[in-house]
Amino acid sequence: MPILHWLTREEDLKISGQAPYRLIEPVDEYSYGDMTTGNMIIQGDNLDALKALLPYYAGKAKCIYIDPPYNTKSAFQHYDDNLEHTKWLEVIYPRLEILRDLLKEDGSIWISIDDNEVHYLKIILDEIFGRKNFITNVVWQKKVSPANDALWFSGDHEHLLVYAKNKNLWRPNRLEKDATQQKFYNNPDDDPRGPWNSTAYTCAKTAEERPNLYYPIINPYTGKEVWPKKTRVWAFSQDRHEQNQREKKIYWGKDGTAKMPRFKKFLEGSKNVVPRSIWSYQDAGHTQESMIEGTILFGENRFSTPKPEKLIYKILRIATSNNDLILDSFLGSGTTAAVAHKIGRRYIGIEMSISAETHCSPRLRKVIDGEQGGISKIINWQGGGGFRFYRLGTPIFDENGSIRKGITFAQLGAHAWFSETKTPLPKIPDSPLLGIHGDTAYYLLFNGILKDKSVNGGNVLTSKVLESLPRHDGTKVIYGERCLFSASRLKECQITFKHTPYDIKGR
Ligand SMILES: C[S@@+](CC[C@H](N)C(=O)[O-])C[C@H]1O[C@@H](n2cnc3c(N)ncnc32)[C@H](O)[C@@H]1O
Repeated sequence: MPILHWLTREEDLKISGQAPYRLIEPVDEYSYGDMTTGNMIIQGDNLDALKALLPYYAGKAKCIYIDPPYNTKSAFQHYDDNLEHTKWLEVIYPRLEILRDLLKEDGSIWISIDDNEVHYLKIILDEIFGRKNFITNVVWQKKVSPANDALWFSGDHEHLLVYAKNKNLWRPNRLEKDATQQKFYNNPDDDPRGPWNSTAYTCAKTAEERPNLYYPIINPYTGKEVWPKKTRVWAFSQDRHEQNQREKKIYWGKDGTAKMPRFKKFLEGSKNVVPRSIWSYQDAGHTQESMIEGTILFGENRFSTPKPEKLIYKILRIATSNNDLILDSFLGSGTTAAVAHKIGRRYIGIEMSISAETHCSPRLRKVIDGEQGGISKIINWQGGGGFRFYRLGTPIFDENGSIRKGITFAQLGAHAWFSETKTPLPKIPDSPLLGIHGDTAYYLLFNGILKDKSVNGGNVLTSKVLESLPRHDGTKVIYGERCLFSASRLKECQITFKHTPYDIKGR
C-alpha cells in the first residue's frame, strides 16, 4: 500500500510507544456537579493523556471526534497553529495510533480538517485505520456568505474525515428529516394527517414485462379511465391500489383533474433518512453561529476557533446512542463535551492549554446549571449531571524503568493487565489475582497485597506465596519482584514469571 513519507517518519512512528504512562489526578477546584458520572476533562498534552487512558479505556470509546490545529499558518490567541508541515505530521500520527486503540470495535472516528492538510491526513488515516475502514469525507458548508476579500476562493467548507474501526461492524444511525428536507412536505388539501409529499404513481417498465401492473384505474373526480403510458406501469398492484384509494393516499391535483395520480407520503411516520455527505449550514450550523455561542458563554474571552454545537450534535446523533462514551482529545472550548453532556452521552475531553480551566470547565458548569445556548432549546436541556477535572501526574515508571514511589497496587495492576491483554482491567481486584483472560490467570505481587512487605515476603514468588494465591489450574503469568522457583518448578506449575516493572509494557 502506498504510504506517506516525511523527514522524521521513522522517529515519529516510535513516539506513541515511547510516551510515558502517567497517572491522572483529580482537581476538585475545576470539577463540578455529580462526581459519579465518570465524565472527565483532562488538562495536559494529549499524547500522555491518551496513553494514561489506555489501561482503563482501550476499546471503550464509541465515537472519537477531534478538531486538531489545521496548520493554517495563522497564530490564534489560545494556541499556536503555525506548525511546520512535518511537525504537524509528527504531532498527529502517534496520537491517531493511540486513538485507534481507544476506539470500540464498532466505533467511529471523525476528524475536522480543512484543505491544508486533508489529503495528507487521509493517507495516514488509511495507514493507521485501514483503507477498507474509510467511511466518507463529509463536506460541511461552514460559511453563510462568501469572504469577498479572498484573493483566490472564499473558503466556504471544511471536511470531516470519517473512519470506522471495523467498517463491517459500524453502522450510522439514521436521522429524522432536517429543516431543509421537511420543506419538501406541505399540505395543499388540508389532509388531517399533516404535511406530505408525493411520488410518481407509475414506474419504468412495459406492460409486457409486468402485465399485472398494467390495468385501468378510475379518477374518482372525473370518472375517466386512466392508463399508464406505454413505457411505464403502475407502481402498485390492483389490490394495493384499491387499498391506497380506501386510505385516501392518491392525489389527483388541486381540482382533481391531473392527468396522472400521485402517491401521498406523510411526514409523520416517514422513515428516518440515511446521513448524506454534504452538510449545509442550516442543518449543521456555521462559524458565525459558533462565534455567537462563544460570546454568550465567554464574552470577550470567547475561544478563537470553536465549532457550532449543531455540528457536533449531528455527528454524535449519527455515531452514538444514549450513554455511549465519546472522546475528544483536542477539546478547545469544550464544545464536544457540552453537547455530549446535554444529549446524555458519557465523555472524556483532553485539552492542553489554559482553556481547559478558562473555557472547558466553566462552560460545563454552566451546562450543568441549565445553560440555554447552543442546542439546549432544540433538546429541551434542563441541566444536571457532573464531571471531574484531572491533570496529568507523575509517570508510573521513572527514567530507569523503576516503579515510582506511591504507585498503588490498582494502578500497577491495571498496567500489567493491559500490557498482557490489551484490554482494560474489568475490576480492581482485592487479591493478587488480576483476572483470567483466555485460559491464563494473571497475578501481580506488589505493594504488600499479601500484607507481607518483608524481604523475601509477599512481592517474591515462593512456595508459601504460591499456596496463598487464588488457585487456577492452568497457565499462570505472575508478576513480582523476584522468583525463588527453579526453571523446572516453574514449568511444572505452568507459571511464566515476569519482573515488575521491566516486563510491563504497554503499546
Ligand atoms: C481547533 S481547537 C478545537 C476547538 C474545539 N473543537 C471547540 O469547539 O472549541 C484545537 C485545540 O487543540 C488543542 N491542542 C493542540 N495540541 C494539543 C495537544 N498536543 N494536546 C492537547 N490539546 C492540544 C489546542 O490547545 C486547541 O485548543
